[in-house]
Amino acid sequence: MTTFAILLCLHLCAVIFWVGGMAIMHIAVRPSAVEMLEPPQRLPFMAVTLGRFFLGVTISIVVLLVTGAWMMHFMASVGRLPHSVEAMAGLGILMMAIFGHVRFAAFPKLRRAIAAKAWPEAGKQLGIIRQLVALNLTLGVVTVVIAIIGRTALV
Ligand code: HEM
Repeated sequence: MTTFAILLCLHLCAVIFWVGGMAIMHIAVRPSAVEMLEPPQRLPFMAVTLGRFFLGVTISIVVLLVTGAWMMHFMASVGRLPHSVEAMAGLGILMMAIFGHVRFAAFPKLRRAIAAKAWPEAGKQLGIIRQLVALNLTLGVVTVVIAIIGRTALV
């Protein structure tokens, strides 16, 4: 197995964790919590669940950046860097910036509101997080499509 193949495997594991995790959160976990739990149970449950997921996303982002930059460097050195890879890097950075806003702005506000038992404010912050996760999920799927079409276009 070449170094490039190992990097690509790690890159794809990180993509699967991040995009798949957002899909599970958005499609299954949050709607089920809304259906089953009242705000004083649901909002702390969602904060704990998101906190665990965000730790995994942070690790995935580090893996994506290291493996992505390494593969780009390799491709540039052999003179084969398609626009699809540049588009992926741009969209990837945008997704990371959106995640940074969720993790370091909205999520701390959610936790503070929960600690103060301010349920309407906590619900508002969770709503903001839900919208940004939906946006990142869409961008993630678009990025995967661009990456795969870009590679198969070369074959
Ligand atoms: C700054 C971030 C990123 C950089 C620099 C980067 C770079 C790269 C590079 C150089 C490749 C190899 C392309 C090839 O072998 O033709 C690749 C593959 C891939 N990347 Fe990224 N990437 C980044 C983020 C992302 C994100 C956020 C996603 C999806 C959410 C993603 C999805 C993929 C997929 C699906 C492939 C495999 C394409 C294939 O083999 O058909 N990447 N990436």
